[in-house]
Amino acid sequence: MTRIALVTCSRLPDLDPEDTPLLAAIAARGATADAVVWDDPTVRWEDYDLVVVRSAWDYAQRHDEFLAWAERVSVVTHLANPLPVIVWNTDKHYLRELESAGVRIVPTQWLEPERHLSSRALHTRFPAHGEMVIKPAVSAGSLDAGRYTAIDAQSRGLAIAHARRLLGENRTVMAQRYLASVDTVGERAHVFVSGEYSHSVRKGAMLDGPDVAVEGMYKEESISAIEAPAEEVEMAHDVIATARRLLDARPDAAGADDHQPFLYARVDVVSDDDGRPVLMELELVEPSLFPSFAEGAVDRLADAIVARAGIPAS
Ligand SMILES: Nc1ncnc2c1ncn2[C@@H]1O[C@H](COP(=O)(O)OP(=O)(O)O)[C@@H](O)[C@H]1O
Ligand SMILES: [Mg+2]
Repeated sequence: MTRIALVTCSRLPDLDPEDTPLLAAIAARGATADAVVWDDPTVRWEDYDLVVVRSAWDYAQRHDEFLAWAERVSVVTHLANPLPVIVWNTDKHYLRELESAGVRIVPTQWLEPERHLSSRALHTRFPAHGEMVIKPAVSAGSLDAGRYTAIDAQSRGLAIAHARRLLGENRTVMAQRYLASVDTVGERAHVFVSGEYSHSVRKGAMLDGPDVAVEGMYKEESISAIEAPAEEVEMAHDVIATARRLLDARPDAAGADDHQPFLYARVDVVSDDDGRPVLMELELVEPSLFPSFAEGAVDRLADAIVARAGIPAS
């Protein structure tokens, strides 16, 4: 019997509820699927034919540990998405590479901890007007992200303190203008399964003020199904193709990547102040895929997963 692990974290040992239907859908296709906690030391990963990363949402503060885990697993079994994809995509520096390759991203100031920037230097790099966002380059679930008012001295001071805290934890900080369309039009997430477009959802704004500690691993999201504009789906296709090309060229992908279409991908798009779509992030590791918002999405995912595990389509 083919065995498949759907990877989660200890706070969600039974997976995110969105993914629970996958267990039965995979079973119906003749394999067994288990929800497995990534940092559970008793798990024998080699017993699985395929390990699929799903709701492993607690890695942002333990990035090295997570990558070490992924490397160990990739040595003993087939990991999806593969190790080079996980290494590349868990750090938002990949956005810079996509930008160099021609993708329009949310304009970003990258503040690196090794530069030891003073408060004054941070201040000069922050947007001069409007609202702004401070967030870490390694993050998930909108944690450690805050929204500030650029021209308000007190708010700007909080933004500087926030950035300094993240830099002090040796984390890269991303400073961006707050894109007001996130409050009105909303962010759009376009989901692809094995290279094929599946469905899209709209996500309401996530940030309402300075960074504050939240209970749990992610902030609550307000999601609704949408019909995506064709041009945005086309843009999402291009983003994914560019990412595939960049990854194929990486030296660490030579023997370690399957070079197949990503098992799943989510392309998050927002509109800039001129109304043009720009990339917020491309999620290839542990995105919520919101299958409950689209007819047939669970089946498409289950088909793709069992195919990767070597079970032919019925
Ligand atoms: N520049 C921005 N303008 C408006 N909202 C933003 C911006 N950056 C982040 N956000 C909000 O914060 C959320 C989380 O940021 P994101 O970069 O997607 O990180 P994560 O990996 O935590 O999802 C987004 O879904 C969005 O609501
Ligand atoms: Mg996001």
